[in-house]
Amino acid sequence: PRLHNRRTWVSECVFLSILDLTEQIQARRSVKKEWQAAWLLKAVTFIDLTTLSGDDTSSNIQRLCYKAKYPIREDLLKALNMHDKGITTAAVCVYPARVCDAVKALKAAGCNIPVASVATGFPAGQTHLKTRLEEIRLAVEDGATEIDVVINRSLVLTGQWEALYDEIRQFRKACGEAHLKTILATGELGSLTNVYKASMIAMMAGSDFIKTSTGKETVNATFPVAIVMLRAIRDFFWKTGNKIGFKPAGGIRSAKDSLAWLSLVKEELGDEWLKPELFRIGASTLLSDIERQIYHHVTGRYAAYHDLPMS
Ligand SMILES: *[C@@H]1O[C@H](CO)[C@@H](O)[C@H](O)[C@H]1NC(C)=O
Ligand SMILES: *[C@@H]1O[C@H](CO)[C@@H](O)[C@H](O)[C@H]1NC(C)=O
Repeated sequence: PRLHNRRTWVSECVFLSILDLTEQIQARRSVKKEWQAAWLLKAVTFIDLTTLSGDDTSSNIQRLCYKAKYPIREDLLKALNMHDKGITTAAVCVYPARVCDAVKALKAAGCNIPVASVATGFPAGQTHLKTRLEEIRLAVEDGATEIDVVINRSLVLTGQWEALYDEIRQFRKACGEAHLKTILATGELGSLTNVYKASMIAMMAGSDFIKTSTGKETVNATFPVAIVMLRAIRDFFWKTGNKIGFKPAGGIRSAKDSLAWLSLVKEELGDEWLKPELFRIGASTLLSDIERQIYHHVTGRYAAYHDLPMS
């Protein structure tokens, strides 16, 4: 793959217009009240419900899977006349060692939500290539159908684009049938130009999704970075006809934030991207806030802790 040396469009003046656009999006993000509940439910269907903690156990994975299957309390869904729509989160996302637990729990719940596993030495990617590849294979063997990989950031920082391409190709191969979601860790890539190029390389190498962050960097998903990635997705679509998915992750906690992300994707890529095949939100606590907002929408008051015990 050869990225031409000509400057990409991410020049300084475009950067300024990105900041401008970011402000506009933030100003515009108040969705009309009557539509808000519907949009929040839509947001639920995009969530990769995530737990990535050192103290994850089979029982909290079980709870996570239950929550993925029943993300919003049944009576609230009934009040919105949405109880028979089969609303679930898009996937659950766990560490490789917890994939078996998640697969088992979802199977027991009679639920075919995909299990996503992080891999390749998540979050830093500082393990040998051989181990990183083996980690993908083992997660797939255990039943993960989506693999969220991290890239070697120094390949980006030193401009070794071919090496980056080769590495992601190997991840792609190791995934087999599983979907490949490539985490760029944009907080560690140095510049927006690097974000654009890394996005392009990740897509050329066969990623099904590009994802902003691990949630463990000091900078999480931000709108300027997202706009660069979304425009890379659009350019890639124009050049190849392939639609690649987008997954912001890291620090997305409030229902309001989730709506801002939805409207950003809608504006940049259009409604056709607003489906779980092409858009995910990586989050752990976002769902509780969405449930609280829906509770408020339905009942007119805010939930006490015991009202939403599974949150
Ligand atoms: C990442 O790439 C750099 C080359 O820039 C290399 O020195 C380093 O070993 C690579 N890291 C891993 C974990 O393979
Ligand atoms: C980034 O996201 C993670 C996970 O949601 C959170 O723990 C962390 O505080 C966030 N960092 C910043 C700088 O917002």
